[in-house]
Amino acid sequence: MFKQEKPELAVPARRQFLKAGLTAGVAAGAMVAGGRTAFAEGDEAIVEKKDWAVYPGNGVDAAPYGMPSQFEAHVVRRNVPWLTADTVSSVNFTPLHELDGIITPNGLCFERHHGGVAEVDPAEYRLMINGLVDKPMVFTMEDLKRFPRENRIYFLECAANSGMEWRGAQLNGCQYTHGMIHNVVYTGVPLKYLLEEAGVKTNAKWVMPEGADASGMTRSVPLEKALDDCMVAFKMNGEALRPEQGYPARLVVPGWEGNMWVKWLRRIEVGDEPWQHREETSKYTDLMANGKARRFTWEMDAKSVITNPSPQAPITHGKGRTVITGVAWSGRGKIDRVDVSLDGGNNWREARISGPSFDKSMHRFYYEFDWDGSELLLQSRAIDSTGYVQPTKNELRAVRGTNSIYHNNGIQTWLVNSKGEAENVEVS
Ligand code: MTE
Ligand code: CO
Repeated sequence: MFKQEKPELAVPARRQFLKAGLTAGVAAGAMVAGGRTAFAEGDEAIVEKKDWAVYPGNGVDAAPYGMPSQFEAHVVRRNVPWLTADTVSSVNFTPLHELDGIITPNGLCFERHHGGVAEVDPAEYRLMINGLVDKPMVFTMEDLKRFPRENRIYFLECAANSGMEWRGAQLNGCQYTHGMIHNVVYTGVPLKYLLEEAGVKTNAKWVMPEGADASGMTRSVPLEKALDDCMVAFKMNGEALRPEQGYPARLVVPGWEGNMWVKWLRRIEVGDEPWQHREETSKYTDLMANGKARRFTWEMDAKSVITNPSPQAPITHGKGRTVITGVAWSGRGKIDRVDVSLDGGNNWREARISGPSFDKSMHRFYYEFDWDGSELLLQSRAIDSTGYVQPTKNELRAVRGTNSIYHNNGIQTWLVNSKGEAENVEVS
């Protein structure tokens, strides 16, 4: 899937394996004050009258579709140049280190497409259901909107997220190591209703969603999953899907690898066995050390990452009160707990989860502490509602080898130096 070349964003080799065993960088004794005094002597920003307080601003006709503040222009999706052979079959990454809460804004959702962004006219959109059904059917957008619809929040993670880290710390930033994920509110019709309308035959066991883009993406999805919680979604975060995310309709396959969430969905074939297409044979299988490959590894295992501080988001305020934050998710349910370590996994403290906790959705965690300015080896570890504990990278490699690209959910480590700068490293 990806070109393997000398990475520009790679961390220096000497940083790839560090001994765990630092003393945790927590200030002993009294709390170090984090804020300034309420009235800082000589702070011009407080007394000076700014232009924005003197002159009226833009009127309501200036931005028919609102955009972020000009001061947020750096908050964008980015790609990794050496990963991006061409931009049509490619990927860009969500800037996780710039976000908070659990919802990814539509314009910042990472994109992964194999044949560019299809520009589908909703008036000409059709969704066909055929194969092992009593009544093959074709739905227009208007037809879809006459079924009962639901609103649900789910993460979508590409199976290749963190895929470049299998053999060691490589990309310097959580945007690049973990940014093939987004979490939005989907509005759509449960796939079950559409399949019921067509009447699934008793010998049916699988469905094959197919995309209308130039890549004609197909995957085999077990009928059981299709009837359980899959949806055909047409809105994300309240507004129409973005073209990049499959406008006007995409499949939502909660908790399962992103590749199955077919965009620009045009057809669902019902069958009695998997189709063995490219994306489930040569791609999206996990090559093990013995040369055999795991197949049909659909569920995304529990995973987490500290987004702040991280290489793109250093600590800039110096010692004292420091807020660590990050995200955690599981394809098998909710996140029950997130632990944070300041010393490369020697000691763990429970983080605070804040915000809604939904099945197969992103969770936000915080850990506040007083930093004494010494080096930190920051890690987070997610525990999901099945009791599964996110493994270390070495635990994962012991089972899976290092041939894989997909399903890397190992614990991430950031080395924070005394200046607050962070780097992608591994502990041994
Ligand atoms: N669907 C179609 N039709 N074409 C594609 O290229 N890419 C898949 C999936 N669905 C793809 C597709 C992959 S690999 C992933 S990870 C997700 O869409 C990415 O969804 P996003 O672009 O909304 O982030
Ligand atoms: Co993908």
